Amino acid sequence: MAMVCLSDFEAYAKKYLPKIAWDFFAAGADECSTRDENILAYKRIHFRPRMLRDVSVMDTRTKLLGTEISFPVGIAPTGFHQLAWPDGEKSTARAANAMNTCYIASTYSTCTLEEISTAAPGGFRWFQLYIHRNRAVSQQLVQRAEALGFQGLVLTADLPYTGKRRDDVRNGFRLPPHMKLKNLEGAFEVGKMISLDPSVTWNDIYWLQSLTRLPIIIKGILTKEDAELAVRHGAQGIIVSNHGGRQLDGGPATIDALIEVVEAVQGRIEVYLDGGIRKGSDVLKALALGAKCVFIGRPALWGLAYK
Ligand code: FNR
Repeated sequence: MAMVCLSDFEAYAKKYLPKIAWDFFAAGADECSTRDENILAYKRIHFRPRMLRDVSVMDTRTKLLGTEISFPVGIAPTGFHQLAWPDGEKSTARAANAMNTCYIASTYSTCTLEEISTAAPGGFRWFQLYIHRNRAVSQQLVQRAEALGFQGLVLTADLPYTGKRRDDVRNGFRLPPHMKLKNLEGAFEVGKMISLDPSVTWNDIYWLQSLTRLPIIIKGILTKEDAELAVRHGAQGIIVSNHGGRQLDGGPATIDALIEVVEAVQGRIEVYLDGGIRKGSDVLKALALGAKCVFIGRPALWGLAYK
């Protein structure tokens, strides 16, 4: 069957992925209201289409912090790509490179940063960071990413604790034993799992700036107040995101939050968006409302699962 749109890849992934993997990818927090709102909100926004404007030449290129990509859709950071495809993040890196777009590799990758770099040399990549209680682990990850040529550091701000994803709880979801959070291997202290630091604040941006010369992009901003704080703390970009509705249920759809963030930032730094992007027209709406580029999370995983 011809694969025509992202929903076709979604249906394929649902059919062929093991249920536990599909459920993990699809999961939202609590009642999944925010996850579903991300998609519904686009349907409430309508174009005012203008005609007779000479559209014979189209150029979809844009720049993210100075680096050109072929079209304004990048790959959001998602963990555990080997659940979708044995090569995991290596395949994602190759695909992003082939399409000349930006791939944000997750802290929770099932391949190492080194494997990701080697799989697609010269590809445009940012590294997504979760800050761990053991700060040395985070410091080492940031410095590894910079040394490997990652061009940006994406700090995810909306996961001090993991959201309650009911299907994952029901399924007793855990990573299969042959898959590893490879970036964190060797970082386990005796008898103690590496855990995220819920005490992170805006001041930690200064700490990150002391570790790296990479531009810092804050992911998970949904309000004008936090947008202002991001600018004031020297972030170079914001990703308006609610983690695909996997964290706080009851927050706004990202396309709705975009408007106040763009207004607060007033062009001082770049603003991007993720969540619920499923069609070209969703991308256009986000760009029309001030996003420089959007990122896709789940759709990239569905693509990875397709053979
Ligand atoms: C995520 N997301 C995420 N974000 C992040 O900063 N680090 C991570 O490791 C992950 N992991 C992750 C796993 C899975 C399975 C999903 C679906 C999402 C959130 C992700 O970056 C992004 O914000 C959303 O996925 C965007 O929404 P859509 O495109 O999935 O609707």
